Amino acid sequence: SATFTGVIAIDGPSGSGKSSVSRAVAQRLGLRYLDTGAMYRAVTLGAMLAGIDVEDQAAVEQYAHRMELFVPTDPQRQILVLEGRDITDEIRTPAVSLTVSAIATNLAVRRELITRQQQIVAAGRAIVLEGRDTTTVVAPDADVRILITADEDSRIARRTAELHAEVSSTTMAQTSSQISDRDRRDSTVASFQSAAEGVVTLDTSHLNLEQAIDAVLDIVRELP
Ligand code: DC
Repeated sequence: SATFTGVIAIDGPSGSGKSSVSRAVAQRLGLRYLDTGAMYRAVTLGAMLAGIDVEDQAAVEQYAHRMELFVPTDPQRQILVLEGRDITDEIRTPAVSLTVSAIATNLAVRRELITRQQQIVAAGRAIVLEGRDTTTVVAPDADVRILITADEDSRIARRTAELHAEVSSTTMAQTSSQISDRDRRDSTVASFQSAAEGVVTLDTSHLNLEQAIDAVLDIVRELP
């Protein structure tokens, strides 16, 4: 089949598997890959390291404008460099995960990051763009737009397995309340629970990773 040369945008709630699926699709098709959530995490970590109060909207906005963030788009090598510092692992810590909603609900920060994301898309070849508002705001005219969903039980089970060595009723319950808290906060800025016009919904509740990747590749192949 012909080489894909456009933009694939993938949204979805936490625990839907969207990150693993998006990165694998980029690898299989030889495309660039941009994890937009990692950029929100980078602003969060950077503001925390700079001693900025994350609730101080104006201070965070200024920080977001001036921060030097290098985001390579190689799906094999997912690194992030902030002011020369490799922050790849640090952006995944619980401290950042707990604070990132305060940054993601700052509309001035969103404008700044959306602009940077659109520049990254425009600056190179075909790409998989992943994150909450990519199908609706960052790349509403993407060639392929997919909303990856999964029912709540599957999302909780996946997140628990990612976060905890042991999957028990206690860790499941903890993860469950974390997921619903975050979905509630995130849904105030970016709507991702239901698909916008023209967005294909892919329910992965009963699919394993490999099947979910295949389903996305099928959607891409069926393009006119
Ligand atoms: O997907 P993730 O967990 O790395 O996302 C981190 C946070 O950023 C989460 O609160 C959702 C938010 N986010 C967003 O608001 N818009 C995006 N395009 C991507 C992520």
